[in-house]
Amino acid sequence: MNMDNYKAYISAETMMGPNSVRILAELFDKYPLQFVSDDRILDLGCGKGLTSLIIARETGARVFANDLWISAKENGKRFAEWGVGDQITPVCEDARNLHFEKKQFRALISIDSYHYFAGSEGFFQEKILPFMKDDGVVLIGIPGLKDEYTGCAEELLSDWLGEDACMFKSPKRWKEIIGVGDGIESVDTWEMDCFSKAWEDWLATDNTFAAGDRQHFERIIKPYTCFVGVCIKLKKAL
Ligand SMILES: C[S@@+](CC[C@H](N)C(=O)[O-])C[C@H]1O[C@@H](n2cnc3c(N)ncnc32)[C@H](O)[C@@H]1O
Repeated sequence: MNMDNYKAYISAETMMGPNSVRILAELFDKYPLQFVSDDRILDLGCGKGLTSLIIARETGARVFANDLWISAKENGKRFAEWGVGDQITPVCEDARNLHFEKKQFRALISIDSYHYFAGSEGFFQEKILPFMKDDGVVLIGIPGLKDEYTGCAEELLSDWLGEDACMFKSPKRWKEIIGVGDGIESVDTWEMDCFSKAWEDWLATDNTFAAGDRQHFERIIKPYTCFVGVCIKLKKAL
């Protein structure tokens, strides 16, 4: 994926954390997706819809851009301004209680979001899998803990994240949490390469949350955390 195509859309207004475009680009470089216009992709926890725009342009599929904190009205306005209003449907629902038609998505993508709601065993099988088509694929990029610090999130990250520290889990731990089960062909988790650049872009923005993160970057974020990449491949229909 050529990130230069999307430079004009990346701004302090559309970013909600470390550069989601870099995270998505790394996932797409590793697992390219090419679909037709009738295929459907769910962008879960899409924030201000930056990733939804790119998913739509890169894959050609219809995108459902779901978020909890950002309203469908706000995202719909942005999609229209960006000229993708016909290809992206904005939705505002809690990922823990989605109401989509079952078995409709060829792919689900979730950037810097899945850790907020999906950190318990069985969540994927119960809350996500029913909406996916057989042979579908799930790509996730989220902040987490390096493998060597598995289980130490509260001790290491609380000064930065307070009670939210427990949401940060290692690649090894995410593989266990997603688990196995009917319908799952494989689960791959790894430490992503885009960590430094994604953080650099975010810390350079004039954003109150970025200013807070800047104070903890050298002492906490850089030594102990990473971005966790997750690819879940689903079984083909029998
Ligand atoms: C840090 S922002 C990242 C947004 C966007 N994916 C990006 O990378 O710019 C985290 C997003 O997760 C979403 N989120 C958190 N909990 C959620 C839930 N239970 N259901 C749906 N979205 C949720 C929030 O609405 C928020 O926009």
